[in-house]
Amino acid sequence: MAFLLKNISTLLTLGPAALKEGRRITESDLGILRGQSILIVKDKIAWIGEAKKLPRSLAQKKSLKEIDMKGMTVLPGFVECHTHSIFAGDRFSEFELRNQGRSYQEIAAQGGGILSTMRNTRAATLKSLISMGQMRADHFLRQGVTTLEIKSGYALNLDDELKCLRAIQKIQKLRVVPTFLGAHALPPEFKTYESYLDFLADKVLPEVKKKKLARRVDIFIEQGFFPKQASEKYLRRAKTLGFDITIHADQLTLSGGSDVAIKLGALSADHLLQITSREIKSLAESQVTCVMLPTADLYTRTKYPPAKELIEAGARLALATDFNPGTSPTQDLTLVGLLARLEMKMTLPQVIAAYTVGAAYALNLQNEVGSLEVGKSADLLCFEQDWQSLFYSVGEQIQKVVFSAGVRV
Ligand code: NIG
Ligand code: FE
Repeated sequence: MAFLLKNISTLLTLGPAALKEGRRITESDLGILRGQSILIVKDKIAWIGEAKKLPRSLAQKKSLKEIDMKGMTVLPGFVECHTHSIFAGDRFSEFELRNQGRSYQEIAAQGGGILSTMRNTRAATLKSLISMGQMRADHFLRQGVTTLEIKSGYALNLDDELKCLRAIQKIQKLRVVPTFLGAHALPPEFKTYESYLDFLADKVLPEVKKKKLARRVDIFIEQGFFPKQASEKYLRRAKTLGFDITIHADQLTLSGGSDVAIKLGALSADHLLQITSREIKSLAESQVTCVMLPTADLYTRTKYPPAKELIEAGARLALATDFNPGTSPTQDLTLVGLLARLEMKMTLPQVIAAYTVGAAYALNLQNEVGSLEVGKSADLLCFEQDWQSLFYSVGEQIQKVVFSAGVRV
């Protein structure tokens, strides 16, 4: 199948942002073009230009279908690079406790928090996890997300972690990137973090690899969760097995997560609200993408990460929802971007680049998604308003047309 999308009023290719590898973004990096058309062949972008200049060889394609975009704005589909979208149960009452003064770590230490979701997730069937996961994925898709990362990490044993990864694999309509987050919390079957991490490395990672259920490994390095040294050892073993690394780093305390990320060449270090000028400098000089998760900061009522300082130092930023039942029970991309603007003083072009090019880097998919260029995946977000209306009005439902790998969904 081939489509020619004609009559696009404003096209944001993000091409210049991709060329700069997502660093030091200004408005000119959005790659704004007027009056362009896009040729999609199968699942890829085959050509971009003025419709009347479409080369003959391409125009004569038998199956070519023209679509009038009626002056819409078009940009790359959003890349949502950090979510925990596979879980069962809820944590409504825990939110109330936290809001009335109990701390996240206190609740976790008493068997609540992640362990409470663990009990529900272990008990859930594969079928119910798939159906909840698909519903959540559809909700992301309606907002223009065409690539969605999903972590396991709410089962914390061999069989049920594999069950969660299988559920992630079954989600349709958008590109799904699974991540193994067995190292999310200490399950009751183990006495020490070290022995649990050895179990994961000896027994679980080889299965995940053999069954091709994930190519990425994540860990929660934090006081009261996984200690730095043991985490580093575990991540080295994961790397030896061929996994890419990503880290929940320096969220509640400055616990060394970003140092480990730099040392091991992780794809991303996520959260980062506790980092100081020392970590800012080394992250900026590294290839690690800094993932900001401001809705988690809102719900936990902590500070926000030093996005402006990171950007000025030359770091590459991404934004994501961190959707999970505990610290970020929202899938709202507009709220994420709005907080990045209001609380972190990111500019709108920086927010848009963070949700496309930056997030693509965080998933090591920068050669396929995040910008609209010939040869890249035909993942497009189209809508009637001006691009400057993005990440502005929480709760407003902007009608969006989404192409995911060349298919209108
Ligand atoms: O990204 N920090 C660790 N993991 C999640 C929270 C998980 C939970 O509380 O269920 C996060 O914030
Ligand atoms: Fe998270």
